[in-house]
Amino acid sequence: MVGLRYAQLLDRHPWFRVTFLAGSERTRGQTYQQATGGEAPASLAALPIHGLDALQPALERCELVFSCIGDRETAHSAEEKYATAGLAVVSNTAAHRGCPTVPVVIPEINASHLDVLPQQKWKAPLIAKPNCSLQSYLLPLATIHKSHRLKHAIITTMQAVSGAGRTGVGSVAILDNLIPFISREEEKNQTEPLKILGTVTKEGIRPASDIELSAHCNRISVLDGHIACVSVAFESNPSEEEILAAWSQCEGLALPSAPKRPILYRPEPDRPQPRLDRDASGGMSVTCGRLRPCPVLQWRFVGLSHNMIRGAAGGGILNAELLVTSHHWYGTQPPSR
Ligand SMILES: NC(=O)c1ccc[n+]([C@@H]2O[C@H](COP(=O)([O-])OP(=O)(O)OC[C@H]3O[C@@H](n4cnc5c(N)ncnc54)[C@H](OP(=O)(O)O)[C@@H]3O)[C@@H](O)[C@H]2O)c1
Repeated sequence: MVGLRYAQLLDRHPWFRVTFLAGSERTRGQTYQQATGGEAPASLAALPIHGLDALQPALERCELVFSCIGDRETAHSAEEKYATAGLAVVSNTAAHRGCPTVPVVIPEINASHLDVLPQQKWKAPLIAKPNCSLQSYLLPLATIHKSHRLKHAIITTMQAVSGAGRTGVGSVAILDNLIPFISREEEKNQTEPLKILGTVTKEGIRPASDIELSAHCNRISVLDGHIACVSVAFESNPSEEEILAAWSQCEGLALPSAPKRPILYRPEPDRPQPRLDRDASGGMSVTCGRLRPCPVLQWRFVGLSHNMIRGAAGGGILNAELLVTSHHWYGTQPPSR
């Protein structure tokens, strides 16, 4: 699922060109067209799929690898192998998110975390993108956190079936249903934001220690688009005007995949909705709505992002753009710089 999104987005990318593909034993030796059942972009249809052991041809043809391997242990060893050999790795997987020297990056929040890269033990940099569900609410929270310090939040996600991968959720299980459990997802929502809001130290990234998060994660019968319903309190209580101003003033980065306005606000009482709002700014903006007081904490709102674009391939490509324009990049300069 994520690999195909990468292929579609990279097919028209101004800086990156797909030159090599690797997959599992299931698809080794097939063309990308065969492996995807005909869904591959025409420019990549004839590319053959290699195994993860084909390191030498990868080194000859690539400078940077996008990792979206479904199996966590395989992802862990493959990502280390590529980075050790000298290929920069931009990961979508959870394999290295817990490693103190691997930055978990949402560029609009913590681009400065790339400063931890000189502490890595590999020849080339390895950076990760957070879990897809965080993207629906963390940027809106982080923009207020800068001035009012996030204290605690209770987050309830409703996540699309595409987030579970091609074979993740059976149609009979999810149709006409909600599944109130996604393996390891609540833990990721309670730890990854703390790392993203943390600080680079000489011992790697130290997660923020004074923020408490509680997450409920649910799978729902929507194809694409993760929703988060958030109740939140800050150290100093912002006004409604301050929150809306911070969101509308959140500026996009000067990178090809960055949306001009990373946070959009819909004033209608029944927005955001996955079908209506997930494609905002080509799937790269977070859409918020329903900002209102919370009788228990301070504020409530709803956030939505496209899990396959901002939450997966688009977010990974944005991270790669950030990496190649940073002073930590050692490879070929992107053509438009
Ligand atoms: N779906 C989302 O919204 C989303 C968002 C953010 C992050 N992610 C993460 O991205 C990764 C992929 O997710 P997905 O939704 O694309 O899952 P998926 O549709 O199940 O695809 C899994 C991919 O991993 C490859 N793979 C699995 N085992 C392998 C092995 N032993 N060796 C080499 N390749 C192997 C598969 O290759 P073959 O096709 O060749 O078998 C396939 O390309 C996961 O780590 C997931 O947590 C997903």
